[in-house]
Amino acid sequence: METPSTNFTPIGLDLEADKNYAWCACGKSNKQPFCDGSHAGSGISPQLFKAEKAGTYYLCTCKKSGNAPYCDGSHKK
Ligand code: FES
Repeated sequence: METPSTNFTPIGLDLEADKNYAWCACGKSNKQPFCDGSHAGSGISPQLFKAEKAGTYYLCTCKKSGNAPYCDGSHKK
């Protein structure tokens, strides 16, 4: 698998409470930060999550966050 660029910055989105989301963990999705099925055959699966409450969240696109799917600033390292 190709290593994702460290220049990928987080994407801020308004998420709904109790809605199921599928965060792309492989870096191949064309619908970042969400899974579009491009991980097929990679052995990587999307990370399913729900927001604790409705609001704006910054989701990781560099795939290096230690708090995925949320950005933890790792793209700056
Ligand atoms: S496209 Fe990346 S995890 Fe599905």
